[in-house]
Amino acid sequence: MEHLDTYLEQHKERFTEELFELLRIPSVSADPKYRDDVKRCAEAVKESLLKAGADNAEVCPTAGHPIVYGEKLVGPDKPTVLVYGHYDVQPPDPMELWDSPPFEPVIKNGNIYARGSADDKGQFYMHVKALEAMVKNDALPCNIKFMIEGEEEVGSKNLAIYVRENREKLKADVVLISDTAMIANDVPSINTGLRGLSYVEVEVTGPNRDLHSGVYGGAVANPINVLCDLISSLHDEDRRITIPGFYDAVVELSEAERKALAEAPFDLEEYKRDLGIGEVLGEKGYSSEERSSIRPTLDVNGIWGGYIGEGAKTVLPSKAYAKISMRLVPDQKSDAITKLFQEHFERIAPPYVKVEVRPHHGGEAAVTPTDSPAYQAASKAMEDTFGKAPIPTRGGGSIPIVALFEQELGLKTILFGFGLDSNAIHSPNEHYGVFNYMKGIATIPRFHHHFASLMNGRA
Ligand code: BES
Ligand code: MN
Ligand code: MN
Repeated sequence: MEHLDTYLEQHKERFTEELFELLRIPSVSADPKYRDDVKRCAEAVKESLLKAGADNAEVCPTAGHPIVYGEKLVGPDKPTVLVYGHYDVQPPDPMELWDSPPFEPVIKNGNIYARGSADDKGQFYMHVKALEAMVKNDALPCNIKFMIEGEEEVGSKNLAIYVRENREKLKADVVLISDTAMIANDVPSINTGLRGLSYVEVEVTGPNRDLHSGVYGGAVANPINVLCDLISSLHDEDRRITIPGFYDAVVELSEAERKALAEAPFDLEEYKRDLGIGEVLGEKGYSSEERSSIRPTLDVNGIWGGYIGEGAKTVLPSKAYAKISMRLVPDQKSDAITKLFQEHFERIAPPYVKVEVRPHHGGEAAVTPTDSPAYQAASKAMEDTFGKAPIPTRGGGSIPIVALFEQELGLKTILFGFGLDSNAIHSPNEHYGVFNYMKGIATIPRFHHHFASLMNGRA
């Protein structure tokens, strides 16, 4: 592996410059005004795969944003790794909170600042550069298939269709994804689980039109006040979710499993200081790490209605809205939870308002075993480059397509993320460490190396 490390050292500057090229393309999937940029980004990803030594690469159109597929096959007797990532990014808003423009990447204090730097361009591109390094140094022990999509941040609807229609083409032994975080740069870790998601929008209607809050106020229900009451009733005093049946399918961890997870270093004081909060809040009986990984949640993501412009307007609004997301854990099912929410919300609506619940996209939770050859290979690879074995942790975010890979392709996923929770993904000033980027490029070839050996040994 030394010649590989020398190669990486020699090409480090170019590797970051190439990533900058991708980061300059505003591939925001949620907003139709960026449609052409998203397409341009897909083309750039395809070109980068060909340049890195892929045998072929293509931009596959879908009903939404395109999927980029590429492969480098070295032999039918070799194991096959399916690398998944996403080239789409979250909207950059609020723009005014960025210290430098979101699509003009800069390096400051060892970090690359740009929308998508950590989520996920900087992370999937590590695999493209690792491919280049392995091809150039004649050190590619596995077949590699790349599937990089453009709709992860909006629910991967068309990828689900693509996967179902291309089962043969996507045949592999494992899925490898770099789109998660580690504990710290000197504390490597591997996520062995992700949460699922159920997302709804609610609309509460009171009177049939906006009213003067002096003429009618006090006599007619205000839908914003009612929405607040409804939302606060969704948690009890132990911060448990009150929707009947919500916890029925939740897999409780054994004491041994909880103890193992608690091994991961966590400093509650530092956590609070970092977030600028005086105290944490969450479900009674669970630690902060558990609350944000192995337990389900319900959060309001946005709430609006009435007058929010300059100055004051005395109005009793006709309507109030909220976007509400629930993070799910095994074995809660997204559709079932959405239905439970809908039924509950309609049931608790008082007679002085009408409510409507509109479901958005969702996804299932996923867990990965730690006793598979792929996990062992990932662990060994990190041990090689970090000097210590990674700690298995459960992640709190969601990558819904992971459950689909298991269901449709029968494949388990390794969440080989090199980011940090502090990377400000989805936030202003998103950044990714040059250290993390280069560490990923150095570690990925070692994964392929160990995976090929372990799979060979088994055959
Ligand atoms: N890369 C994230 C998911 C993630 C982040 C997992 C941090 C673990 C740690 C992904 O791009 C993402 O943002 N997913 C969305 C879900 C999707 C359906 C919009 C999420 O988790 O909100
Ligand atoms: Mn991501
Ligand atoms: Mn994301």
